[in-house]
Amino acid sequence: APRTASFKLVLLGESAVGKSSLVLRFVRSATEVRDEFSDFRESTIAAFLTQTVPLDDSTNIKFEIWDTVGAGQERYKSLAPIYFRNANAAVIVYDITQPPEASFDKAKSWVRELQRQADPNIVIMLVGNKSDLKASRKVPRELGEQFAKDEELLFTEASAKTGDGVDDLFMSIGEFVVCPKN
Ligand code: GTP
Ligand code: MG
Repeated sequence: APRTASFKLVLLGESAVGKSSLVLRFVRSATEVRDEFSDFRESTIAAFLTQTVPLDDSTNIKFEIWDTVGAGQERYKSLAPIYFRNANAAVIVYDITQPPEASFDKAKSWVRELQRQADPNIVIMLVGNKSDLKASRKVPRELGEQFAKDEELLFTEASAKTGDGVDDLFMSIGEFVVCPKN
């Protein structure tokens, strides 16, 4: 039987950038494997989802995903470390259709916070979401790409709406965490 390698992933980013949409797209799209959804009540500030996906014949990857709520992050900022403590990976999302100060700058400050406070081996991926809205783009791809390069982050643009890039982003993190040499 294949072994299952579990890892903990946290989603961070400003409200309305599409964190929940990305994770729900990923969880829905992997139909051949078991998935569970647990949405805590309104009073809580995060949702926990798991998804198990075959990596190859001998290994399954189990994603344990914490989806945080952007709107609550100022108010609950002191709780943020609970979500990224022991996280193996972080997906930091911004919205390419808003001016950089709206969510890209916040994404950069999440990167700084993780660099200061998270596990030093955490794998960070920066994601510019809403790539389907090309006509409304306010953050050039190069801005995200360059920041990611400077900080040695994984980077992609994606669309939770069309699904473009979504499976690839989660799977490349999974592969990176499970077999970092590839
Ligand atoms: P919080 O939970 O408040 O932190 O927000 P969030 O980051 O989870 O954003 P959410 O997934 O709720 O999406 C916010 C809005 O953006 C919703 O209206 C989504 O339908 C929309 N949205 C999310 N992803 C995309 C995308 O890729 N393209 C487009 N066009 N709209 C998107
Ligand atoms: Mg959300």
